[in-house]
Amino acid sequence: MNIQTAPPAKSLRSKEQDNARVELLLEAMTLDEKIGQLQQLDAGGDTLRTDIKEAISQGSVGAVLNQTDPQICKEMQRIAVEETRLGIPLLHARDVIHGFTSIFPIPLAQAATWNPDLIEKMARISALEAAAAGIHWTFAPMIDISRDARWGRIAESFGEDPYLTGVLGVAAVTGYQGDDLSAPDAIAACAKHFAGYGASEAGLDYNTTNIPENELRNVYLPPFKAVADKGIASFMSSFSDIDGIPATANRFLLKTILRDEWGYEGLTVSDWNAISELSIHGLTENDKDAALQACRAGIDMEMVSETYSAHLKQLLEAGDISLQDIDAKVRRILLLKIQLGLFEYALSGPDLVSVPDEADIQAVARQAAIESMVLMKNDHDLLPLSEEKLSSIAVIGPLADAPREQLGTWIFDGDIERSISPLVAIRQFAGKNDAESRKLRKVIFAKGLKNSRAYGTEDMEEAVKATSAADCAIICLGEEAILSGEAHCRADIRLPGAQLDLLKAIKDTGKPVIAVILAGRPIILDEVCDLADAVIFAWHPGMQTGPALCDIVFGKVSPSGKLPVTFPKSVGQIPIYYNHKNTGRPPSQDRVLHISDIEEGATQTSFGMTAFHLDDGFEPQFPFGFGLSYARFEYSDLSQDRHEMDCDEALNLEVNLTNTASVGGTETVQLYIRDHVGSLTRPVRELKQFKRIYLKPGEKQNVKFTVTKADLSFYRRDHSYGVEKGRFSFWIGGDSSNGLSGKFVLL
Ligand code: BGC
Repeated sequence: MNIQTAPPAKSLRSKEQDNARVELLLEAMTLDEKIGQLQQLDAGGDTLRTDIKEAISQGSVGAVLNQTDPQICKEMQRIAVEETRLGIPLLHARDVIHGFTSIFPIPLAQAATWNPDLIEKMARISALEAAAAGIHWTFAPMIDISRDARWGRIAESFGEDPYLTGVLGVAAVTGYQGDDLSAPDAIAACAKHFAGYGASEAGLDYNTTNIPENELRNVYLPPFKAVADKGIASFMSSFSDIDGIPATANRFLLKTILRDEWGYEGLTVSDWNAISELSIHGLTENDKDAALQACRAGIDMEMVSETYSAHLKQLLEAGDISLQDIDAKVRRILLLKIQLGLFEYALSGPDLVSVPDEADIQAVARQAAIESMVLMKNDHDLLPLSEEKLSSIAVIGPLADAPREQLGTWIFDGDIERSISPLVAIRQFAGKNDAESRKLRKVIFAKGLKNSRAYGTEDMEEAVKATSAADCAIICLGEEAILSGEAHCRADIRLPGAQLDLLKAIKDTGKPVIAVILAGRPIILDEVCDLADAVIFAWHPGMQTGPALCDIVFGKVSPSGKLPVTFPKSVGQIPIYYNHKNTGRPPSQDRVLHISDIEEGATQTSFGMTAFHLDDGFEPQFPFGFGLSYARFEYSDLSQDRHEMDCDEALNLEVNLTNTASVGGTETVQLYIRDHVGSLTRPVRELKQFKRIYLKPGEKQNVKFTVTKADLSFYRRDHSYGVEKGRFSFWIGGDSSNGLSGKFVLL
């Protein structure tokens, strides 16, 4: 399919020429025009608002966001180019998070594909659609490490792992930006939220974070470093405060790390209203002070609040900031506009973009939805269902036919009409007459509950009847889209409403039950797993939810999704993540004491006790990296070419992977490493590499990994980056709790 960047003429400009152009512009600009460039305004709405029109024509705005009407976009740009003194085009942004009009799986689901190529394709299509509407800049990818499923924004993230998030983040950037930012169909990407937002206490959005510097560097920052190295065009600061200093005024993050250590030269933007909110945080007294702190910390462009526009001039006159400071910010904004080709294509750009064919887009959406679904349980190989054996299926649940809800959060521009629900797809599938032997003809639908949060049980009876009249039930449960995403956190992450009661009632019919969970976050699944014979965790899979689910349920493909985040057994286990520290008293299965094992009147003792909960042990419900398949993968014959290596050597690992089943399938082979002793305590395992491998029935493949110092380096006690000599273990397997293992020593 043709979704590659196809610029009409590849830019031949050099970096020096771009910089020279910036300097020429800068020389010609008044102070007001410079400060104007630092302002981003919300231009949303059905019309071009008068205040926006005026701001553009006066040159007091450098960027806008949230206008997606192509005519309005064009008109704004026309005013900027034709009616302002210097004709500097506007930068126009939008949150294109998991699709523009075509909605793909939510980012957390995308991460479950462990497939960077697919993520790049989705981002490319999103870029083409957005660029055709006049958008130049997306506020994506969100690469916040998320270890707390209560946090609604976990939906927007790639999960809990720094390496996986970095790889997928880079893939998304490649898709959005293409290989030439100046092509009209490339859009600038934005790494957000810098940094540590995912550590919001109690999984509560906008909440405080406390992240020790070694954890910041080793866990939260690596994905940001990866996209900075890839050349991402911009960074957005986080709303949250970190160690007492909100990220938007955090010079350590924005200057010391981003500019001085990483040498990042792109644009920084504050989050929505975040500079003004510095005073609400209690860091600054008023907007003027807030502007000063954000400016000094390193924010170039201010989103929505207008503290820079109102106060920078005065701050400059008072000598609190320098003209060099302002010029440096303006330079980065102008340079991005030049790099994006806006000075050439500001008006004609959208018309030069050709969007891929619908069939190609749907194929990518379907593939992504398929690859993101995780098979959590499949008792007695209930799945795949045989259409030859079944004559009727009950399709049950509040999310079985909810085309909008299955799209998930951040779908402002999404085309809901193109979203196909499980019910519609299963009906279509059953209605096909292409197989003589096929018995499946009847699909009986009953919602069971009004929506995912409903407690009213009046519709359950109908669902029970439908199931009783069918051979099996597919029950679609989970969360409506509005229950995850920004500002939509939950303290209890079990299935909301009376969904478990509905599941129990369906189970009581005695019919085989397949639970499909559509949600924006990990859900506590213990009871679901007890009740259902098979469980597919589908996340919010986007517009091709129904067809993708059909492909999996009826065995056209084997599920291959793997969890990008640990699933807890209870909320009390949160935060729970696979790459935790060992502690001085690590738990083990044979030493776990359960609350019911404690004798009445037992006296206090900690002898032999370790780090576990009396009521939940220490293991999660499902580990990071987990996911079943219809294929069966066996790992064998692990070998390593050395047991000792020095820093400049490579360790070659090999393992045989065999599919012992009679169906094909894709396995994600994961390599984890543990550094046993360090100047800082090290995680019990860290994902270092992975490979997706398709095996036909009975096929065997030799899988190779090469370990080098890049896989062993970390930010050490003195914050320097590098390796430390000593003992290491490694595991190669299908999830973070398993694998064939070996050892080596770094000399
Ligand atoms: C969010 C950002 C988003 C911005 C612009 C904020 O509320 O935190 O992620 O990009 O709004 O819509």
